[in-house]
Amino acid sequence: MSAADRAGLKSPIRTYLEKLHATYVDLHDGQVASYIPELSHANPNWFGICVATTDGYVYEVGDSRQTFTMQSISKPFVYGLALEDHGKDAVFHKIGVEPSGDAFNSISLYPDSGRPFNPMINAGAIATTGMINGEHPAEKLQRLLDMVGVYCGHPVEVDQRVYESERSTGHRNRAIGHMLRNFEILTDDPEPALDLYFQQCSILVTCRDLAIMAVTLANGGLNPISGQRAVHQPYVEPILSIMSTCGMYNSAGEWIYDVGMPAKSGVSGGVLAVLPGQLGIAVFSPPLDQRSNSVRGIRVCEDMSQDFNLHLFHAPVVAKSVIRTSYNASQVTSQRSRRDHEEQLLQEQGHRIRVYDLQGDLLFSTVEVVLRDIMERHERLDFIILDLKHVTSIDTTASSMLCDLLHTLEAQPCMLLFSNIEPSSPFAMSILGREGSDGSQGPVIYEDHDLALEWCENQLLARYLGTPSGDAAIPLAEHVLCQGLSERDLNHLQTLLEPLSFAPGERILETGHAPDYIYLLTRGEVSVTIELADGKRKRLSTLPAGMAFGEMALIERAPRSADVTALTPVACYALPIAAFDRLQEINPSLRMMLLTNLLRHVSGTLRRLTEKVGILTG
Ligand code: DON
Repeated sequence: MSAADRAGLKSPIRTYLEKLHATYVDLHDGQVASYIPELSHANPNWFGICVATTDGYVYEVGDSRQTFTMQSISKPFVYGLALEDHGKDAVFHKIGVEPSGDAFNSISLYPDSGRPFNPMINAGAIATTGMINGEHPAEKLQRLLDMVGVYCGHPVEVDQRVYESERSTGHRNRAIGHMLRNFEILTDDPEPALDLYFQQCSILVTCRDLAIMAVTLANGGLNPISGQRAVHQPYVEPILSIMSTCGMYNSAGEWIYDVGMPAKSGVSGGVLAVLPGQLGIAVFSPPLDQRSNSVRGIRVCEDMSQDFNLHLFHAPVVAKSVIRTSYNASQVTSQRSRRDHEEQLLQEQGHRIRVYDLQGDLLFSTVEVVLRDIMERHERLDFIILDLKHVTSIDTTASSMLCDLLHTLEAQPCMLLFSNIEPSSPFAMSILGREGSDGSQGPVIYEDHDLALEWCENQLLARYLGTPSGDAAIPLAEHVLCQGLSERDLNHLQTLLEPLSFAPGERILETGHAPDYIYLLTRGEVSVTIELADGKRKRLSTLPAGMAFGEMALIERAPRSADVTALTPVACYALPIAAFDRLQEINPSLRMMLLTNLLRHVSGTLRRLTEKVGILTG
């Protein structure tokens, strides 16, 4: 239950589903299935609607927790298990993928081979069940139950009465099974396969379970609530394809035309529909139409598809929005503070570094847009950073297109870097796999785009200004806070300063501590960081020699708001705030010069930040 639900605030989606339920609750067309005697006991008024999202939220209306047997809805899931057990080719060899356009119990077999048309009609489903691996019948059944359990997120069981009822009356299915045996589609005694088929049809589920099973397929085979994998991703496409073309039997054409989602129905009144990447929908209402599909189930799916534009072919145009922002390093620099001459150079040459902030799903059409933009610009660039922080997925095609780009640019003076990718992700692995060809250039993958940008800036600065002075100390007179100080004032200041040194990794300032000093860094580098709510550390800036830190204490007098850590061997001067305050009496002009320099420094930082925000949000 969400916070809004607990507060009694009803989501518009829930309101919609309740209205939809109310619209069809009085529709009494159709008949409850009775050819399996036990099914005829179902209450025709049972009616549940559930919608599950790929981020794991489930909307439930009506009889969403009433149990019923899966019946034919089990077929696509068992087909997935057969694919996992034997692979596509072996399964295809026994069971076709052509819609039969016939009823579920039609004997639609290819005349010469006896191969069933598809795995959704009973003939194909029984052949599919006959392919499930297992040493003995109990093991096969357990594998089916375990598989359905992962889809639903809890253990499931067989309704023994429905199973017995179907087993003792399923003469037509038994005939189909023996026919399959005759054609060597089933290679053993057909009875165990039939028995397992009757059991899979009798697995008890709820409407909520079906919605979660549907969304698990929508989510590439991963149950979004439990995080468990129900079926391997490569088999999701074949399952959904079969559901699209054959899932609704002799209504399949009309269904994909009107509703536009892969779906499956069962004679106990369940229907589930899958909108890949987005939703799973399930309806439960036992009365069936002439084609053995739930009357209310069909109407609800039709309405939802229309009202929410859920038709599969109503596809969003994703390519246009893949580049969230794109900028160069003369517009936006890294969080590393620079001395004036370095900053000047980045202003002039920063256009040679370009950052692409990408978003959404990376697939052929979105990566094509990025590749085209890079191809148009690469001659004018030395460094390209692709920041994947806002990327939600990278499919295998996108991954190999980006690897190809990396490979292509290796032969060029322009270097490609990636930021914000999990080092252990398959994409990172494939990129790192290629890095070996020119590992000398520097790391290709950065945790955060700012570190990547800083690295590129350093390369550019080194190229134009020569190798950086490294950890050489700077004289106090060159410090940003000491600009324009007379020798006398500088000497006076020196008497107030306490020299300190820190080893790499040593914490210099701690969040929350009293603001009793400001620090003038004269050698080495420090990093300014904060701890985020999730415990991760975020870098606010890196400061080189010549910069001040803890300086806000002079103005705010508030506890420290960040941590400062030495990155290299550090030498700095600490100026006690109390000593600074005493200058008011003994050397007001020195105090004023220090404040003016501080103000100039702070306003420069503010100006750069304002420009950055303008570019990044513009
Ligand atoms: O094979 C049968 O007759 C049932 N166990 C399943 C049929 C079914 O659910 C057809 N779907 N609409």
